Formats: sequence, C-alpha cells, structure tokens
Amino acid sequence: MAKNKKLITFKIPATSANIGSGFDSVGLALSLYNEIHIYENDNSKKIEFEIFGEGENEISKNDNMIYSAMKLVFKKLKSNPKKGYVVKCINRIPLSRGLGSSSAAIIGGLLCANYMLGDKLSIEKDILNMAVQIEGHPDNVAPAILGGIISGVVRKNEDFKYIKIKPPKNLKAVVSIPNFYLSTETARNILPKEIKRADAIFNISRAALLTSALFSNRLDLLEVATEDKIHQDYRAKFIPNLKELFKETKKAGAYSTTISGAGSSILALVKDDKNIIEKVSKAMHSSFKKKNVESIIKVLNIPTKGAIII
Ligand code: HSE
Repeated sequence: MAKNKKLITFKIPATSANIGSGFDSVGLALSLYNEIHIYENDNSKKIEFEIFGEGENEISKNDNMIYSAMKLVFKKLKSNPKKGYVVKCINRIPLSRGLGSSSAAIIGGLLCANYMLGDKLSIEKDILNMAVQIEGHPDNVAPAILGGIISGVVRKNEDFKYIKIKPPKNLKAVVSIPNFYLSTETARNILPKEIKRADAIFNISRAALLTSALFSNRLDLLEVATEDKIHQDYRAKFIPNLKELFKETKKAGAYSTTISGAGSSILALVKDDKNIIEKVSKAMHSSFKKKNVESIIKVLNIPTKGAIII
C-alpha cells in the first residue's frame, strides 16, 4: 500500500453543537481533525479502506459511514469511479462523544466520492445539503464544512441560511472527553416532545444573546448567553457530576461550560490564558474523577476554516 501514489488528502474538523442555548441551531468547529488520504489502488479496481486511530477496531473496512456517503454521491451523479482507490482514514475524533465524528465521516465520504468523480458537486451547497440530509443535524455538519462558529442553519427551500461568525480572538476551547459513549439517539430520546412557552423564550433570548455576544466579542456575556432549559438538564442523568463540573469550571474562570453536542463530552469556552486553561482543565478532570470517570482534556482552537483539501 505504502508504494501506491497518494492523490489527495482531506482534513475534517470535530465540532461542538448547541453551545447551550442554541440547541440544534449553533455550532463551532474544533481544531481536532480526521484525515482521509486517497491513494491509487494498483492491485484492484475496488475501493479499499484502511482505518487507524479512533474506532480502528470497531469500524468495518467494508461497510462504514464513509463508504455509505460515497455511494450516495455515486447514485446522485449516476456514475461509478473508473479506477480503484485505497482510502486511508486517520481518525482523531472520538466516536459517540458529541464531537461530530459522524459528521466528519459523512463529509469525508462525500468529499472522497466527489473527488473520484471529478469534483462535480459544490462543497458549500451540494455537499452541505447532502451531509445535512444524511446526518440530520446541521449544527454539526455546517461548522465541519465551513469552519468558525455557525449560527442558525436554517433550511429554506433547497438552500441553507446561516451566518458564519469569525471566532473571537483569545478564545480557546477546553474539551473534556470522558471514557464513555453516549449515543445521540439515547440523548435525544430523553428530551420531552413538547416544551413550555417560558422555556422556549428562555432559550430563544439566550441564543440571540449568544450569537450577538460572539459577534461583538462580548465574551463576558457567554455565561448567561449559554444558559439553557431545553436539553442539558434532561441529559445530565447520563453525564455523572455534570452540575458540579459546570460549577467548578465557572469558579476556575471559564466563560461558559456546556454539553458538547448530545454529549458525553463537555465544552468550556475560556480566555486564552495559561493559568485559566490549566484551572479549567483541572476542574473538568477532577469533577469526572470524583465519580470514577476517566477523561482526556484537549485544549483546542476554533479554526476559521472547515474541511480542508490538501
Ligand atoms: N444538536 C444535536 C443534539 C447535536 O444536541 O442532539 C447532535 O449531534
């Protein structure tokens, strides 16, 4: 395999959706990337997968999300690749932890297939549209493709309406990744089908504040702007010691702390200050540790670019 010629590389970032109040509506990209390298396949006319890193022992090499997404492009364009390829995946986004691993796989598959058929689809329209249709959550998919902070991914006819907010300077993401999976389905099924008007107003007002605070660099407002009444309290039963973790990270100086996507990871937005980052990281780690949950802490940026083609 190593002798085969490398043709192209795609890097797709992790994401953190919701950011508290912006349930299903706001998301940001994180500087943690899955890489997909496409090589010529000298030995066969098939598409063959090599998988390394996160999920390497769980993800099938014959039937996986990347391949399913690729097949949808082949179907849409009514064509199949004329040559064989080796698709080497280097996965760094942990699975089922609320960091957009499914989005990254789906987007990766769509980008690979589009490349194999001569780049007929546009990334910001066709690929975004297909990825949202497959994945179902635009607040995850859009920042992975477009980068930055994406606010209000609204489908209108065949188009998406959104605003990309440039990440404020000096803003870092401290992400705590616990060692347990939480499926999006489980974390959505726990939510009530209907919510009270007062709770809806609570979230709408804060989500409005959230996007305008991020736009105008009013990071002091993030604490109140990320408050939420429609998903996190219900999901707290799946995430040990969540309330204490929120309290301790606030004490440690985080602007805001929220469940990342549907969980189980946690996102703290903090000032780019070594001392604060260290204190927040410790607070996150020890809150989980108290309940015997091991976790990994990653200090990440919010990249302005989404999926990168090299
Ligand atoms: N906004 C979605 C949720 C993200 O919180 O359920 C799921 O990936």
